[in-house]
Amino acid sequence: MKTSTIVKTVLDFDVAEYVNAVRAGGRRQLDPALRGRMADLYIDLCGVLTEAPGSIDTGERRVLRLAELALQSEWKLAATTEPHDERDRPGVLEGPRGTRYQPYSNVRLLNHALGTQKHSSDACIERQCRQALRFLVGSWLGWEERTLRGQEPWAHLDLPTARDAGERLSRLSALDDAMAAWPRLPAAGAAPASRWEDYLGEAGRSRILEYLINMPQTRKHEENVFLRLIHLTEVTTSGILARTVAGNAWLESGAYAEAARCLERAAELAVMQFDIMLVLRRTMSVDSFLGFRNDTENASAIQMTSAQTLHIHLLGIHPAKVEALGEMQENAFLLLYVNRHFRPLRSLLQELPQDTDETRPVFAAARALDEILFRWRRLHIGLAHRYLPKETMGSGGTSGAPYLSGFYHDRIFDPEGELFPHPVPVSMPPLDERVRARSVFSPFN
Ligand code: HEM
Repeated sequence: MKTSTIVKTVLDFDVAEYVNAVRAGGRRQLDPALRGRMADLYIDLCGVLTEAPGSIDTGERRVLRLAELALQSEWKLAATTEPHDERDRPGVLEGPRGTRYQPYSNVRLLNHALGTQKHSSDACIERQCRQALRFLVGSWLGWEERTLRGQEPWAHLDLPTARDAGERLSRLSALDDAMAAWPRLPAAGAAPASRWEDYLGEAGRSRILEYLINMPQTRKHEENVFLRLIHLTEVTTSGILARTVAGNAWLESGAYAEAARCLERAAELAVMQFDIMLVLRRTMSVDSFLGFRNDTENASAIQMTSAQTLHIHLLGIHPAKVEALGEMQENAFLLLYVNRHFRPLRSLLQELPQDTDETRPVFAAARALDEILFRWRRLHIGLAHRYLPKETMGSGGTSGAPYLSGFYHDRIFDPEGELFPHPVPVSMPPLDERVRARSVFSPFN
């Protein structure tokens, strides 16, 4: 196909029709012909986007780059029914299409809305994360309220009990109130927009968050809740990560006040992340979870690049995780952090005097961050024990709860607030030669 024809086909694609089709039956029921058309368009578009910069108008290129994110998800999901596409271009699209977590949760689109794919500052990323969190909590709350009133046709199968629904509403209202002074995004509109270009800019970010990322496999209410939780956890993790990376850089340059401020901001978001996970623990029944678990197929948050990257910047790579990281196509590059130049927060703190006026706030903020993230990991391993039948493997292919037990307790400080020594050093396993290092906030994430 000619470049101009491909560009026109992408620009003419009806986004609203796609969103409505996913919502009507669940993403698993999406018409294979539509998914196939989107997968083909993705391959064609990749070719166009690698052409010389002058070949397409700059405005159109922005729209095409956004479309690519949504089309790629469908191309990846099409892989289960269509393992090999003859039209894949060597060097651009060769090899497997990656694990399911990223397309299932539409993580690249979410990251686009957060601005983590650009060279944004940590302050800018945090601001966009707070805006997104406020929007997503408000959207979730509104959806639950409409469901309770019987006014919400979307995802109304297998509803929670009245008790769980009531508890959820009060927890979400509390979260919403806590964000009342945060920056807000404009409303997304009552229906999805048809053209990709309406998903650009500030209003476009709202539309992405409302319509493009939330695409559950089924019409089951609790699966939709689970996906909302994943998005909220991704958003908080990106904010915590941006501030941690910046905090580490300030520490390395001896700017202790700035480092302390970054770690304090990270800890604030981590508190929010913990409260968000509590909504799941307190309001989702085991039966509801097991009712949709298989529908998400093998999409596991072990494939969550932001969370794995955050752990590494705080703690380094734990020996118990080397194998799991190396086996994941998208995250194997993280093993490149096993090198003598990389210093996680834990090792930067080891060399810092603890009792000076300058460094005391750094330790206080690092302790607060370490403590709340440890509480999150403890809560999360509790989920694995509670919701998964005994000896069930994790959907990411690990041993499940035993895998998490291998490192959840690893932290920077002990319960008395003293620094723990470094963990057992890890050595670099052999990596596939195609693995390339990439920055923390990269277009590939
Ligand atoms: C009932 C709910 C949940 C259960 C039973 C559960 C269970 C598990 C299990 C068994 C693993 C091990 C990896 C594997 O899949 O093989 C895992 C990993 C993980 N889960 Fe969950 N999970 C739940 C909810 C969530 C949610 C809502 C998030 C938010 C994004 C999340 C984030 C993670 C992360 C980041 C990892 C990787 C841990 C690491 O390697 O450090 N989980 N989960």
